[in-house]
Amino acid sequence: MVNVHCLNNIATIGLDLFSDDYNTKSSFEDAQAILVRSAKMHDMELSDNLLAIARAGAGVNNIPLDKCADAGIVVFNTPGANANAVKEHVIAAMLLASRDILGGNQWVQENKEDADIAKSAEKAKKAFAGQEIKGKKLGVIGLGAIGQLVANAAIALGMEVYGYDPYLSVNAAWNLSSKVKHIVNVEDIYKECNYITIHVPAMDSTKGMVNKEAFDIMQDGTVIINCARDVLVDETAIKEAIASGKVKKYVTDFPNATTAGMEGAIVIPHLGASTEEAEDNCAVMAVKQIVDYIENGNIINSVNYPNCDMGTCKTAGRVAVCHKNVPAVISKITSVMGDEGINIEEMSNKSRGDYAYSMLDISEPASDSVVDKLSAIDGVIKVRVVV
Ligand code: MLT
Repeated sequence: MVNVHCLNNIATIGLDLFSDDYNTKSSFEDAQAILVRSAKMHDMELSDNLLAIARAGAGVNNIPLDKCADAGIVVFNTPGANANAVKEHVIAAMLLASRDILGGNQWVQENKEDADIAKSAEKAKKAFAGQEIKGKKLGVIGLGAIGQLVANAAIALGMEVYGYDPYLSVNAAWNLSSKVKHIVNVEDIYKECNYITIHVPAMDSTKGMVNKEAFDIMQDGTVIINCARDVLVDETAIKEAIASGKVKKYVTDFPNATTAGMEGAIVIPHLGASTEEAEDNCAVMAVKQIVDYIENGNIINSVNYPNCDMGTCKTAGRVAVCHKNVPAVISKITSVMGDEGINIEEMSNKSRGDYAYSMLDISEPASDSVVDKLSAIDGVIKVRVVV
């Protein structure tokens, strides 16, 4: 039985994919696999039983990735599974920043007892007039699964779109409308665009990336949309930029002590991916990735280990080894097999930063002694007999 613990609600359509060999009601301590959405895991004690964590969503800033990698725990996310939901949310954010629909709705609520509200509305409405987004310039910073959908949708809505992504994948480039202007210096987005939306992960290198220097070169009245993570925008600087008129509206999906009451901000309670469809898609993708890892050792969409996919095992045994990305580990692994008279039929080794992963399909199932010898190799973190 494989023990699974859900730290947050995970859509049933995903959990139903687990066979009877999985117990999805396990305690956290006994779990071999964890499914999580937004629960903060940085201060949690991770048990030695734990093999994998799957984040049903894109952002993984709630998970201690290096601590997990050091313990041989593979962390997965579900890139693209909620991208359409976030895209629609960003388009809604742009429209809310352009037309005072929220102000107008508030006026109706305040005047709901007025028997003549239909007439009064015609007089009041001029206070809530706005602008169209057609013909305006939108800058998209980060053209991953979400950014590219936002860029293409904005083109379809008649906007002029500037796209910036120094790490653009070939796949993303293929999916991007040829009408999106390729921007090499992010400063050009800040200088040129009326609307700017951010779609990059929260990392040390991206924290506070939209800062005072960026606001200083923007046009007056720029709209900033942040459905990625609050830490990407310097909130002290944006408050000042709103006060000075550089920023007309800050639409953020992240309420916190600074943004919640911020004048000129539209603050939404992290609803970007909160659609039935996105929650289902993320749950299905997360569960499939966990099952493939547990049953086959394959790693697909990990954020702390390299991807490694050898399909299903067709030999008598398969061993998976999480290890440090340092010289001589692979030769020592193959020596152990040779010394034990085991033939390696197929092997894959992949690395990512400081960590690496090796899978070996072998001529006989690995014995306890093979596992002990592999585990004793300097740099080996975790050895698992998959088959
Ligand atoms: C994500 O990271 O996938 C989105 O922000 C939505 C979420 O956190 O669930």
